[in-house]
Amino acid sequence: HRHLLGIEGLSARDITTLLDMADEAVEVSRQVEKKKATLRGRTQINLFFEASTRTQSSFELAGKRLGADVMNMSVASSSMKKGETLIDTAMTLNAMRPDLIVVRHHAAGAVHLLARKVDCSVINAGDGAHEHPTQALLDALTIRRNKGTIHGLVVAICGDILHSRVARSNIILLNALGAEVRAIGPSTLLPAGLERMGVEVFTDMRKGLDGADIVMMLRLQRERMNGSFVPSTKEYFHFFGLDAEKLACARPDALVMHPGPMNRGVEIASDIADGAQSLIREQVEMGVAVRMAVLEALASHLPNQ
Ligand code: CP
Repeated sequence: HRHLLGIEGLSARDITTLLDMADEAVEVSRQVEKKKATLRGRTQINLFFEASTRTQSSFELAGKRLGADVMNMSVASSSMKKGETLIDTAMTLNAMRPDLIVVRHHAAGAVHLLARKVDCSVINAGDGAHEHPTQALLDALTIRRNKGTIHGLVVAICGDILHSRVARSNIILLNALGAEVRAIGPSTLLPAGLERMGVEVFTDMRKGLDGADIVMMLRLQRERMNGSFVPSTKEYFHFFGLDAEKLACARPDALVMHPGPMNRGVEIASDIADGAQSLIREQVEMGVAVRMAVLEALASHLPNQ
C-alpha cells in the first residue's frame, strides 16, 4: 500500500503486521534515546483542517523519532483563509516535494480525493464521519497488549456512533480480527446499516454491556449535529454515561477505553476515566507507536527506496 486511507481494504494480516511493528515501536519510544533512521532525509507534512491534540502531536513525534523532517502546516493562518481550495493547497504543498502528507479534514472522502492528486504517500488522520484508521489501530494495539488477543472478545462501542469515524474504523478492524462488536446508544445516534456491518445493536446500555470485555466510550460530537437532535447533557449521562453502576454490568475484568477528547460527566464519569479499569492514558502512548509503525510501513513504498 502507498497510502493509508482507511481500515477498509486492509487484510487481517496487514493489520497484524502493523500491530507487531507497533509493539517494536513501543520499545523504541521507551528508551532514553528514542531515534531511528528509517525516515532520515524524508519530509512529512501534517495538514490538519480540524482541531487535534493527540493525533497531530503523535504524528509529529512519530515522524521525528524516525528521523523525518516534520512540518506542521498551520491551516488557520494559511491562504485557505483567502479562498484557496483544498486541492490547490495540496498541489502547492506537493510542489515542495514532501514524501508523506498526514491529513485531517471535516469532509468524508476529502483525504481520498487529495491522495489522487499528489505524488507522495497520504495518511488519513480522520475524514468527517468516515474513517480514522490510526485510531482503530492504536485501540487494537492497546486491547491486544492488555488481553493478549482480539479474537473472541466482546467489544461494546457506546455513544454517538452516528458521527464517529472512530467507531466506523474500529468496527471494520475488530470484525476483521474476529471480535464480537456491539453498538450501544440512543436510536437518534445509531446509523442505519450497523447490522449489515456485523454489529449487534442496543439502545439499553445495561443490556449492551452485559458480558463485555472492552467498553469503548465515544464523545457526543455536537459540532457535527448541525440542526439535528442534540440530547441534554444531564439526560444523556443518566442513560448513556459510563458510571460505576453501569460498568458493573460488564465483565468484572472489563477494560474502559475512550479515544479522547473526553467530556467528563457527559459520556463518562470522572472516577471511571481515572479508575483502575481505564486504559485511556495507555491509548495515548500506543498512538505514537502505531503512527511510527504506519510511517515505517509506508517508508518502503516511498520513491527511490
Ligand atoms: N482521538 C483523537 O483523534 O484525538 P484528537 O482529536 O485530539 O487528535
